[in-house]
Amino acid sequence: MKNFSAVILAAGSGTRMRSSLPKVMHRLAGKPLIKWVIEAVSAVKPDDIIVVLGHGSEVVEKYLYDSGVKFVYQREQLGTAHAVMEAGKKLENYGGDILVLNGDAPFVKPSTLSALVKKNSQTNSSVTVLSAEFENSFGYGRIIRKNGFLEKIVEERDASSTERSIKEVNSGVYCFDRNLWRILPKIKSNNAKKEYYITDAVGTLRKFGKKISLHTVKDGYEIRGINDRSELAEAEVMLKNKKIEGLLCNGVSILDIGNVYISYDAKIGRDTIVYPGVFIDAGVSIGKNCIIKGTSYIANSKIGEGSVVSYSYIDGAVVNKKVRIGPFSHIRHGSVLKDGVKIGNFSETKKAVIAKNSKINHLSYIGDARVGESVNVGAGTITCNYDGVKKHQTFIGSKSFIGSNVNFVAPVKIGCGVLVAAGSTVTRDVPSGNLVIARARQELKRIKK
Ligand code: UD1
Ligand code: CA
Repeated sequence: MKNFSAVILAAGSGTRMRSSLPKVMHRLAGKPLIKWVIEAVSAVKPDDIIVVLGHGSEVVEKYLYDSGVKFVYQREQLGTAHAVMEAGKKLENYGGDILVLNGDAPFVKPSTLSALVKKNSQTNSSVTVLSAEFENSFGYGRIIRKNGFLEKIVEERDASSTERSIKEVNSGVYCFDRNLWRILPKIKSNNAKKEYYITDAVGTLRKFGKKISLHTVKDGYEIRGINDRSELAEAEVMLKNKKIEGLLCNGVSILDIGNVYISYDAKIGRDTIVYPGVFIDAGVSIGKNCIIKGTSYIANSKIGEGSVVSYSYIDGAVVNKKVRIGPFSHIRHGSVLKDGVKIGNFSETKKAVIAKNSKINHLSYIGDARVGESVNVGAGTITCNYDGVKKHQTFIGSKSFIGSNVNFVAPVKIGCGVLVAAGSTVTRDVPSGNLVIARARQELKRIKK
């Protein structure tokens, strides 16, 4: 495969989104559209990735600040060919091919991109256009073939009614050779939108006797562009459905496929059952034989095999095997729940490592803490971790028994096998093997009549 660099067009205003946010920053499954494109392109290792910015450039540039891409600016959005020309300022002396993509088409696969680039050099073409057939091709540039071969691309607005009936569409992904820079200045804006279209480069190259080719993909899904909120919503559903299909094929049960959200990147093991009302956001992996009951929200977390989660909110946690969470638990960032842990109703953990088989079953807050193995934390136990300025740690040793309604005023260390009397407010360390009673003694005073 010849060396190549990529140009991603992301300067358009995205008028159809009706948004103050640049179109390419709208999120699909939690990730901006532009990021999807950059990830696909990066996977095929171009020499450089150049992103053309314009409308809302500060926002996009800030987001992509450390992604390793280069930027050029298209001050006035005069069309896709004009945008590529701006990128030419950085690439005119570059010897390799140029892969051009729209920043609003998130589904393109790396394998397709590398096949496209390969085809362009192997067939000695000046351009190879990526195309697919759509049942409804409305809005897309149509592929006009002559004797079966690519002749030119015609935009919806400029197409005749016969051309509009063509189902084969332009993806907006092209691989050009260096002749691109020679023909770009020849492109005119004499079309319905009065813009300089990159699609006209195809017909122009053809007129100059250059070889132009097509690379067609079967799955039209891959080349869908997103221009408005309804297409964005459709894409979200499409992605989710594809994910669900894959999970069902791999042995995951999903009881009501229309009533769950499962992020495209979720990993879920065999024989896990997902109940209605479950929302699995980005960055989640769930092991085998788990039960996830709604309404639960899980993000950025790992859930080990054989665990049961019901009606709970989990974000940024590592949950080991056979853990029970809920109903109605809040497992926050930095929580590590080891094998066999039980967190019950209305309990919250944050930056807390809870060792094997410990239980926090009712109405507790355990934050900035380490709890040893087989500890029983009674109802209403609170780690008082915050003094208004700093957070402090609580340590509780293995096999300790914490009575109900205990406050641990951190920093504080409780040894192993400690018994903490119900209602205690523990302010000082307790060595292993002690019973601590830290509450006002009950007194009886006779009521005088
Ligand atoms: C474009 C193609 C169309 C193709 C479709 C695939 C043209 C003229 N048409 O149409 O043939 O079927 O993509 O999705 O190219 N942009 C700039 N600067 C500009 C104008 C646009 O950077 O001056 C960027 C946009 O931000 C966007 C991309 O180019 O990411 C495509 O522009 P858009 O207006 O969405 O083109 P489509 O009408 O979708
Ligand atoms: Ca588009």
